Formats: sequence, structure tokens, C-alpha cells
Amino acid sequence: MEGIEKVYRFLEEAQSYFLATEEGDQPRVRVFGTALLYDGKLYIQTGKVKNVSKQIAVNPKVEICACLGSKWLRVSGELVNDDDRQVKVAMLEKMPVLKAMYSPDDGNMQMLYFKNATATFSSFTEPPEEIRF
Ligand SMILES: Cc1cc2nc3c(=O)[nH]c(=O)nc-3n(C[C@H](O)[C@H](O)[C@H](O)COP(=O)(O)O)c2cc1C
Repeated sequence: MEGIEKVYRFLEEAQSYFLATEEGDQPRVRVFGTALLYDGKLYIQTGKVKNVSKQIAVNPKVEICACLGSKWLRVSGELVNDDDRQVKVAMLEKMPVLKAMYSPDDGNMQMLYFKNATATFSSFTEPPEEIRF
């Protein structure tokens, strides 16, 4: 399995993760659940009207953290906005529940993919495993 796919599967299994951004000198963190592997890239989804989106626009460096039993995953990297319609459609097809809030042409739905990402899988019993994508 390719490294990025392993990261994606972990997020899928965990179902939710925490996304940290920066606002001035204040860290901000919130729970997220969207993840999509598309065109070899790991995407997350949000709304452009949200504070989280505005923070990413100012500083695209973020970290996410998810845990599964006694294993945890941290991904740090930069998020890149992608306004490609097809990736929005793919996200809505994967998670139809989002259709109640978003559509590809609403000017709000936002897809962001990781670049320069470092993912670290950790546990209490095994040495950390690092994956870059
Ligand atoms: C389980 C769960 C998963 C969530 N997943 C997302 C998500 O993938 N994208 C999103 O924009 N908001 C998601 N939310 C809602 C955000 O946590 C919420 O809108 C948050 O306030 C956004 O951060 P902000 O207030 O700093 O803008 C989720 C909420 C829950 C409870």
C-alpha cells in the first residue's frame, strides 16, 4: 500500500480527526471528518465562510491528529485550495450527507489538499513511522 493510502485509510477508520490552524498567535483546533483520496492527493473539505478556511488562507500550514485505539497519526503540511469541480463532485458522492449543506457551485464548498506533508504514525509500543507525500 502506498504511504498516502495508509494515511487515508487510517483517517477513514478513525472517522474523525482534529485539525489545527493558526490565527495570529492563537492556535485553533476543531473536529473534522472529511477525507478523500483523489488523483493521488489527500483532500479535506470545508466551507469558505468558516473561520477555519479564513485561517488557512492566511497561513496554509496546518496539522491534523487522529487516533485509533492506542495508535495515533499526525499529519503536518500545507493545504492548497482546489476549485476543480470534479473533486467537489467526488467528495459529495463519497459523503452524500454533505449535499444538505454544500454543492459544487455554491461558491462556499472548499476542497483543500495536502502538499509538503509529513505523516507520522505512532504508538506506545512501536517506533514511529514517517511518510512524506
Ligand atoms: C464529527 C464531526 C466532523 C466534522 N467534519 C467537518 C469537516 O470535515 N469539515 C468542516 O468544515 N466541518 C466539519 N465539522 C464541523 C466543524 O467542526 C465546525 O464547523 C467548526 O466550528 C469549524 O471550525 P471554525 O469554527 O474554526 O471555523 C465536523 C463536526 C463534527 C462534529
